[in-house]
Amino acid sequence: MKIFGHRGASGYAPQNTISSVRLALDQGSDGVEIDVQLTKDNEVVVCHDWIIDNVSDGKGKVSDFALVEIKKNDFGSYFLEDFKGEKIPTLSEVLEFFPKDIILNIELKIKGKSRDLVAEKVADLLLFHERIENTIVSSFNHSSLKKIKKLIPEIKIAFLYKRCISTINKDISDFGMDIYSIHINAKCANKEIIKEIHNHNKKVYVWNSNDIETTKKLYDMEADGIMTDFPIDMKNALWKYIT
Ligand code: G3P
Ligand code: MG
Repeated sequence: MKIFGHRGASGYAPQNTISSVRLALDQGSDGVEIDVQLTKDNEVVVCHDWIIDNVSDGKGKVSDFALVEIKKNDFGSYFLEDFKGEKIPTLSEVLEFFPKDIILNIELKIKGKSRDLVAEKVADLLLFHERIENTIVSSFNHSSLKKIKKLIPEIKIAFLYKRCISTINKDISDFGMDIYSIHINAKCANKEIIKEIHNHNKKVYVWNSNDIETTKKLYDMEADGIMTDFPIDMKNALWKYIT
């Protein structure tokens, strides 16, 4: 079962920062998940929240800042003084150092009319950085995945689900394009749903598993991977469990 750092190793470093991504890599994650959205000047930045109030010393919407302005905020010290001065990263900055042999899961955060533009901008960056092979693009907004798949037919895409819904089988069949994986909420994970998704030949990644018991259960249910804020702890626990 693969272990993905969720927003990097966000239990130990400020979420979605370069430090957090680097730490997830140092902790031996098999993959790293990050969230992306657009600034006012349509730069792709790595950030989960629509507003920066809870993840920086600034205030306001990501989409109201130009890149040069949002970069002036401190995205580290709210978490821990040691991370003071940490800037919001662009996707490009992550792609510059992210190892090609580790899976990068880019979650498209979509709001309003940004859907196609986010997908286009991310596609451009993936092509420019030659980062297609070990990348999974996921989103709760499945139409945005259609857009990126049209632009890069070989890209792996993943449906994200927040709620425990019964339409997964139908959604997969209706989509009309190849989906690589289905990312379900840990609250909704059970042996049956995982088996059903496997019957469609799709991988199942579960978000989030931040405790050892849940991680062991998901391993027993044959989930293909988990997202966690604590990659090193889940890796160690799993290793002990299976050896
Ligand atoms: O990709 C899994 C997970 O990150 C989805 O939820 O809100 O943490 O982006 P969220
Ligand atoms: Mg996410």
